[in-house]
Amino acid sequence: MSENDYQEMYDLALDLAKQAGQMIKDAFDKEKLVDTKLSAADLVTETDQAVEKLVKILIKAKFPNHKFIGEESTSETGEKCEFTNDPTWIIDPVDGTTNFVHSIPEVSFSLGVTVNKIPVIGVVYIPMKEELFTARQGQGAFLNGRKLSANGTKDLSKSVVIMEGGSSRDPGIVDAKIKNIHSMVTNSHGVRAYGSAALNLSYIAAGRGDAYVEYGIHVWDFIAGALIAREAGAVVTDPTGSELDYMHRRVLCACTAELGKQISSLLVHLDMGWD
Ligand code: IPD
Ligand code: CA
Ligand code: CA
Ligand code: CA
Repeated sequence: MSENDYQEMYDLALDLAKQAGQMIKDAFDKEKLVDTKLSAADLVTETDQAVEKLVKILIKAKFPNHKFIGEESTSETGEKCEFTNDPTWIIDPVDGTTNFVHSIPEVSFSLGVTVNKIPVIGVVYIPMKEELFTARQGQGAFLNGRKLSANGTKDLSKSVVIMEGGSSRDPGIVDAKIKNIHSMVTNSHGVRAYGSAALNLSYIAAGRGDAYVEYGIHVWDFIAGALIAREAGAVVTDPTGSELDYMHRRVLCACTAELGKQISSLLVHLDMGWD
């Protein structure tokens, strides 16, 4: 693919973020039609579905041969994601649906593009804050055009760690998550949960926290944010410390490798399966 192809993909990604953001903004203060999926805490609204539908149509119109993975399309078919070497657009139309339903503004639109299974474009837009996080492979990460650099913190005792409860209500999973939160609270400056994986990773890129760990998220939650965090200098791995597998539903992002190692050694490593 030529530089021109990448530029066209990036331009479309920015345009999609703008359109999706406007749809989220328009619906934010209105009454929402809320449904549930895998658990009573796994929410979906008409906006999640409408944003994904529009984005999918616009991508297909411009790049008919590219592949598409989206949270709501995957939930509808119940099929396993097929992650190939083809150019693939990976979308989370509304990341932070629980926040959206409860009128909490930490809601993002997340879009990642992979080529040969490698993320080349990452865009995370937080419309209620008008914060646009962008990255292209090898070209740095930006917030509204300003270059980002993750913190240099090496010591957990001086760190803020972002962690999430997630939507699984399986007692074994909840129990292990509580143990992990206990270890992090005990050993750090504090633990935070913003309710959007894409936002969490973008925050690490912007130096708003030092690490983020989550079990149970999907490729659409973290593909864009992982590129943004890496391009800002953070280290993104599997929580065990091994290489990140985008289809294995877990991630550890730390602003330095030293911090990542410390956190990894303290965690109970949950296996949440594969996408
Ligand atoms: C969720 C958010 C949340 C994370 C969950 C995700 P959704 O995505 O990213 O932060 O804890 O694991 O499922 O469902 O709001 O798109
Ligand atoms: Ca969801
Ligand atoms: Ca999500
Ligand atoms: Ca979502």
